[in-house]
Amino acid sequence: MKAALFIFLSLILVISCSKKQSDKSRIDQRVDSLIHLMTLEEKLGQLNLPSAGDFVTGQAENSNIAKKIEKGLVGGLFNIKSQKKIREVQKLAVEKSRLKIPLLFGMDVIHGYETVFPIPLGLSCSWDMDLIKRSARIAAQEASTDGINWTFSPMVDIARDARWGRIAEGSGEDPYLGSQIAKAMVQGYQGDDLTANNTIMSCVKHYALYGAAEAGRDYNTVDMSRIRMYNDYFPPYKAAVDAGVGSVMASFNEIDGIPATANKWLLTDVLRQQWGFKGFIVSDYTGINEMVAHGIGDLQTVSAKALDAGLDMDMVGEGMLTTLQKSLKEGKITEAQIDDACGRILKAKFKLGLFDDPYKYCDENRAKSGIFSESNRAEARATATKSFVLLKNKNNLLPIKKGGIIALVGPLADAKENMTGTWAVAADYSKSISLLKGLQNEVGDEAKIVYAKGSNLYEDEILEANATPFGKTLHRDKRSADAIREEAVRIARNADVIIAAVGESAEMSGEASSRSDIEIPDTQKDLLKALLKTGKPVVLVLFTGRPLAIKWEEENVPAILNVWFGGSEAGDAIADVLFGDVNPSGKLTTTFPQNVGQVPLYYAHKNTGRPLGDAKWFQKFRSNYLDVSNDPVYPFGFGLSYTEFSYGEIRLSVNEMSSTDSLTASIDVTNKGSHDGDEVVQLYIHDVVGSVTRPVKELKGFKKIHFKAGETKSMSFTIHVNDLSFYKSDLSFGYEPGKFEVFIGTNSRDVKKAEFILK
Ligand code: BGC
Repeated sequence: MKAALFIFLSLILVISCSKKQSDKSRIDQRVDSLIHLMTLEEKLGQLNLPSAGDFVTGQAENSNIAKKIEKGLVGGLFNIKSQKKIREVQKLAVEKSRLKIPLLFGMDVIHGYETVFPIPLGLSCSWDMDLIKRSARIAAQEASTDGINWTFSPMVDIARDARWGRIAEGSGEDPYLGSQIAKAMVQGYQGDDLTANNTIMSCVKHYALYGAAEAGRDYNTVDMSRIRMYNDYFPPYKAAVDAGVGSVMASFNEIDGIPATANKWLLTDVLRQQWGFKGFIVSDYTGINEMVAHGIGDLQTVSAKALDAGLDMDMVGEGMLTTLQKSLKEGKITEAQIDDACGRILKAKFKLGLFDDPYKYCDENRAKSGIFSESNRAEARATATKSFVLLKNKNNLLPIKKGGIIALVGPLADAKENMTGTWAVAADYSKSISLLKGLQNEVGDEAKIVYAKGSNLYEDEILEANATPFGKTLHRDKRSADAIREEAVRIARNADVIIAAVGESAEMSGEASSRSDIEIPDTQKDLLKALLKTGKPVVLVLFTGRPLAIKWEEENVPAILNVWFGGSEAGDAIADVLFGDVNPSGKLTTTFPQNVGQVPLYYAHKNTGRPLGDAKWFQKFRSNYLDVSNDPVYPFGFGLSYTEFSYGEIRLSVNEMSSTDSLTASIDVTNKGSHDGDEVVQLYIHDVVGSVTRPVKELKGFKKIHFKAGETKSMSFTIHVNDLSFYKSDLSFGYEPGKFEVFIGTNSRDVKKAEFILK
C-alpha cells in the first residue's frame, strides 16, 4: 500500500512539474525521479523499439504488442499509420502500464507524409533552403496530425557512388550543401518548439558513412581515413546536431572494423563528447542483431557492446530487452549505463510534452483537414517543379507548345504508383498524378495527347520484378518487346512532338537497390532509338533515383528533363515545366558519370601527382583511363534553364586577407535570354598549398536568385576564414596561410576564377 502511495505521489510530481518544460534542469529532475521508480525490466523496456506489426483499428488490445506495452516493455513503436490506432496503443501505455509512461511513435516520414514531395536527392537539386525547410514543416504537420511524433529523417549520408540505391534518400555528394540541407530539414521538422502539437522530433541518419559502402553494394563494408571522415562525410551529421536534432540513428556499416552500432569512438567520443550531442541514439532496423553476422559476438555480447558504446534504443531486434539483464548480472555492463540510456529516451518524451498530454498528436478534428490538403499539394507541386534538372535543350525544343498531337510514350508515362519514389510509407499511391494525367490536366482540349507504353521497364521479367516490389507495379505488358515498341512508334509517327518517359522505377533506388549497371535498361533504350528514327522531336523525361550513365542519350536525344521522382503531384509539376509555366532551375547535386567504371566520380576530388591538367585524355603515365576520359557527362551543380545566364569577371574586395578579416567576391550575372528565371550562383574555393592535399574545388557558398529577362545583378559572397579551414592530419580544424583560388559560376565546371592570399 505504502509503495503504491509513493508511486502515485511521485507520478503526480513527474506529471505536474513537466509542465514547466522551459526549465531544462527540471526535466532532468523529473527524469531522475521517474528512473528511481522503475524496475530494471521497465528501464530496459524504454530501450525497446519494436515494429508495430499491423492491427485493425479497434484491435490494439489484442495485438501481439499489447501485452508488452502493458508490462512496460516498450519505449516506442514505429510505422503505425492512423491517429485512431496510435491513440489506442498510447492508451494501453498510459492507462494499463504501471508507470503510465507514454510511447514514442516513429515513422519514416522521409519526403512528405501523404502529400509527397520529391525524393530527397531531387529536393536537394532545388538548392532552396526555405523550400526544403517548408517541405519538412508540412511533412511534420501532416504526420503529427496523424499521431506521429518522431521521424527517421533527415538522411544526410554523403554519397558519391551512383551504384548505391540509397543515394536517392540523401542530398548528394557535397558536405557543404549537405550540411545546409541537414539544418533546414531538422528545423523544418522540429520548429522552434518541440512541445507544440505540430512539430515532431527528427532523427538524423545513418550515422555514419553509410553512403561510402564498398562497390555501392548496400550494407557493405566502409573503410575510410579519419581525415576524409571529418572533412567530407561528417559535416552534415554535425550540422544536424548543431541544429538541435533530437535523435541520431546509427548506421548498418562498420567503421574501422567495428559496426557503427557498437562503435564507442563514433557514438560517444565523436558524437557526444566532441560534438556535444545531448539526445538519444537509436539503432537501425535490427542493427544490433546484425552484429552477430558481422562476426563480433553473440546476441548478448553485441547488445552489451552497443549499450557500452553509447547506443540507447534497439530498433526491432529486442537484443537489449532480452539480454542486458544477464550482462548486468555478469558484470559486463553497469546499471548506470542502463539508467543513462533510459534517461535520454525519457527526456525526449518530456521534451515532446508527452507527459503533459500523451494524446497531443491525436486530435480528431485536426486530422480531418490537415492531411493531403489542397494547399499542401500545391506546395508539393511547386516544390517538385524546382527539383527538376534540365540537362539538355537543343534548339530550345522545350518548352513545348500546347497544340497539335503530343505522343506520350514509355513505361513511366502512366505509372502513378511510381511517382512518389522510394520511402513514401504513408502515401496512397493511387492518389498520385501520373505524367499522362498531368499532361491531360494541362492541355485540356488545346492539344491531343496520344499514349502508348512503348516498352516494359526491363525486357526480363525477373529484373522487372526485382525493381517493382511493394505494389508499385508498372503493369507489365505481356506482349513481345517488338510488339509493344511498334505500337508506340505507330502513334509517335503522327505526332508533332514525342515525350519519352523512361528511366528507373521508384524501387530501383532506395534501400537494398544497388545496381551494377547504371544505364537506362536496354529495352527502353531500344524504344528511344526507334522514336528518334521517326524524325520527330523527342523530349526525354527521365525518371531516376540516382545519377545515371546517359552519355548516349546526351549525344542523341535533343531534350532531356530529369524529373527524379517528384512526389504525389509529379505529373502536374512535370507538365508545368514541359509547357513553360515554370522555368526549370534545378541543379545537380551529384555528378553524372559517363559510365559505371568511373564511379565514384565527384567534383571535389584531389589532384594526384599526375593529373591530366589542361591536357586532354588520353595520356600515358597520367591519371586517366584508356577507354574513357575523366570528364563526367554532367558535372555537379549543372542544370540549364529556358533562359541563359552569362557571368562577368570576379571582383575581390582585397587581394590579401588576414585571419580576422573577411573578403568579398562579387560578380555580375546577366539573364541574357527572353524568359524570367532562377539561377543558382555557386562559389568554390581551392586551397592551393596545404599541409595535407586539398580538393581541387570545394563549394563554399551559393545563392539562388530570380532574374527578369535581360536583368543584370551583382552577386556578392563574403568569405571568412572558417570557409578556408579544414581538418588537418591531427584532426584539428583550422586554416593555413597561403594562396587560394576562388571560382564563381553556373556549375562546378563552368566558372570564373580569381586568386587571393590568406596571411
Ligand atoms: C532503414 C532506415 C529506416 C528503418 C526504419 C531501415 O531498414 O535503413 O533508414 O529508418 O529501416 O524503417
